[in-house]
Amino acid sequence: MLINNPTKKVDYAVRDLSNILKFREKKFITDLDVFNKRVLVRVDYNVPLDKNGIITDTRRIANTLPTLNYLLKQNCRIILISHLGRPNGKIVESLRMDPIHKKLKEFFPETNVYKVEDCIGKEVVSKVSKLKNKEILLLENPRFHKEEKENDPEFAAKLAKLADVYVDDAFATAHRKHASTYGVCSFFKDKGYGFLVEKELKFLSSSIEKPQRPFTVILGGKKVKDKLGVIKNLIGLADNILIGGGMAYTFLLAKGYQIGKSVKDLSKLKEIRDYLRDETHGTRIFIPKDVLVCDEIENPKKIKIVPVTEIGENDIGVDIGPETIKIFNRILAESKQVVWNGPMGVFEFEKFASGTNAVAEYLAEIDAMTIIGGGDSVAAVNKCGLADKMTHVSTGGGASLEFLEGKVLPGVDALDD
Ligand code: 3PG
Repeated sequence: MLINNPTKKVDYAVRDLSNILKFREKKFITDLDVFNKRVLVRVDYNVPLDKNGIITDTRRIANTLPTLNYLLKQNCRIILISHLGRPNGKIVESLRMDPIHKKLKEFFPETNVYKVEDCIGKEVVSKVSKLKNKEILLLENPRFHKEEKENDPEFAAKLAKLADVYVDDAFATAHRKHASTYGVCSFFKDKGYGFLVEKELKFLSSSIEKPQRPFTVILGGKKVKDKLGVIKNLIGLADNILIGGGMAYTFLLAKGYQIGKSVKDLSKLKEIRDYLRDETHGTRIFIPKDVLVCDEIENPKKIKIVPVTEIGENDIGVDIGPETIKIFNRILAESKQVVWNGPMGVFEFEKFASGTNAVAEYLAEIDAMTIIGGGDSVAAVNKCGLADKMTHVSTGGGASLEFLEGKVLPGVDALDD
């Protein structure tokens, strides 16, 4: 349901687009002289693994193939570096890059793809010195060293010594100011971004710079705090903002509804009320009209659909209801551009996935530019098998969110001359 009255439209021509402009100033891989060179490529192969260490989604690897193929054609020696998980500065056996090495060999059956047991040190230097043109060397997880996250300059310098040119194709880690994404850049004269970063930033930038209208933003997920930055940046630019998922309950609370035991963030109530009271931004904000509630998430004994006026004191809101889905679909049907970030409910449990699935299915049908950003909404689209029906499915959760918040991504910023 619509919860504000955005009558007057202000002129947002003065919007801060510095994050987009910064990206445009940087060099693209094809602007760099990489022929016959050693190229350090920062990728994001932080892929999901099952308990047997098998990669369950290889898309983050597949998405870097245009960059790797380009460099191979340019006769380069490719040195690949990516983190995997959060080992917190220690060696964690299950977070070694071996499954990724195996997958890379499958992607490049004609190419020698080697791996080393560290990302710095003698063995690495020696292996790099023996690397031939058109060969690939995968380094071990840099997060095994605490210096990676600390953006330690000595550690970054050691990484930089391995190559002549630096290419950033790790869009999903571009929001991290780490040694291999940020610090390393200051040691390279020749540096730029790869095809994946280009594609990601092209879609995200155009959605903000020249939105096709009506422009609708769908926000969900549990953490209100994470999404308020996006609202702050896109309010006044978007025609509609649809709010679902856990964050919707703090909005309901801000409007005076009882939300029982649903997730909430009381520290954000004032900020939300300010957005709702402001009539000058011209953006319509919608929150659920009905929701699915239960008594317990893991083993629910009671699950029911209720209008938001009837959420009981022991109820936990876990999904948007059918009336809300209808309202959201009506708005989406009129939209020419949609950006979606965050699920509509606790979609990991099938019982609570109807709202998220409905949004994914509807987005797959409509005639609009559809951009899916954020780990969970991407997972939902993939689970429904609908990724191919979207205009762009981002590989970055945090990175796409920060870009939509209007922040300059450090990994891109560092690619200065
Ligand atoms: C991601 O999966 O979002 C990126 O790989 C970044 O991972 P991080 O949140 O552990 O830095």
